[in-house]
Amino acid sequence: MRTIGPRTQLCGVVLHPAGHTRSPAMHNAAFEALGLDAVYVAFDVRPERLAAAVAGARALGVRQLAVSIPHKEAIVAHCDAVDPVAKQIGAVNTVTLRDDELLGSNTDWIGVVRALERETELAGRRAVVLGAGGAARAAVWGLLQRGARVHVLNRTPERAERLAAELGATGSGPLGALGALEYDVLVNTTSVGLREDASPVAADAIAPDAVVLDAVYDPPETRLLRDARARGARAIGGRWWLVHQAAEQLRLWSGLDAPIDVMAEAFDRAAAEAAR
Ligand code: ATR
Repeated sequence: MRTIGPRTQLCGVVLHPAGHTRSPAMHNAAFEALGLDAVYVAFDVRPERLAAAVAGARALGVRQLAVSIPHKEAIVAHCDAVDPVAKQIGAVNTVTLRDDELLGSNTDWIGVVRALERETELAGRRAVVLGAGGAARAAVWGLLQRGARVHVLNRTPERAERLAAELGATGSGPLGALGALEYDVLVNTTSVGLREDASPVAADAIAPDAVVLDAVYDPPETRLLRDARARGARAIGGRWWLVHQAAEQLRLWSGLDAPIDVMAEAFDRAAAEAAR
C-alpha cells in the first residue's frame, strides 16, 4: 500500500464536468506498480477558472496536468512553451513542469501509433482516418510520422480536405467513400459509437484484412469493432489508445517506462465501476 508523505508528487487531469475520467485509475495503478511516490487526481475546473488553476498548479509544483475537454485549446495560452509536434498537430493534451516551466505537448499521436503497432507495422501502409477533429489530427500526424500514406474521410468533407492539405495526407472525402478505397489500416476518430450502437461506416466497406482502431472506448466493444471482426479484420479497442498515450505522459514527467498491462487492467476496473 502506498503512503502519502512529505515528498509525494502530484499529477492530475483538468476537465469539466468531472465525468468518468479513467486517467486517475490508470496513472495511480502505474505509480503503485513502479513504486513512484506520486498521486494522480482529477480536477474539475470550469473554463473561467483555467488560468487560476494552472497558476495554482505551477505554484504548488504539480508535476503534470493532463488536459481534457473543454480545455484542450485554451490551455495553450497558459504554457511557457509548446513542443513543435503539438504545434503541428494543433492540440495540447499534456502540460509538464520542467525547470519551473510549463511545457505543452501532445501524447495522443503516440497513443494511436502504439495502439496500432500492437497489430501491424505502419511504414508504407495505406491508412484511412475517419473524422477531422483534434483526435483525427493526432492520428493523421502519427501515421504520417511512421511512414504510412493517409486518406482522411469525414461527414463534412471540407474539414477533411483542409486537414489533409495542412498535414500532408494523400487525399480526403466523405465517409461514404470508404468502400471505394484500398487500405490496410482504419482509424475511427469520430464520436459515432460513443454510448450508442452505431458505426460511422457501412460494415461491407471494412476491408477484411485491415487493422481497425476505434478511438471510442465506451462501450469497449463498439459496433465498428464488431463489424470489423465479423469481416475478418483485426480490431483494436479505444482503451489501447488511451493507455498508450497515458504511458507516454508518465514517461514525460518521470522518465520511466510505464507498465502498459497494469494500466490497461486499471482502465478496465474503472470502466466496470463506472458501469455500476
Ligand atoms: P475531437 O477533437 O475529439 O476529434 P471534434 O472536433 O468534435 O472532436 O470532432 C468530432 C468528429 O466526429 C468530427 O469529425 C465530426 O464530423 P463533422 O466534422 O462532420 O462534424 C464527427 N462526427 C460527430 N458526429 C457524427 C455523426 N453523427 N456522423 C458522422 N460523423 C460525426
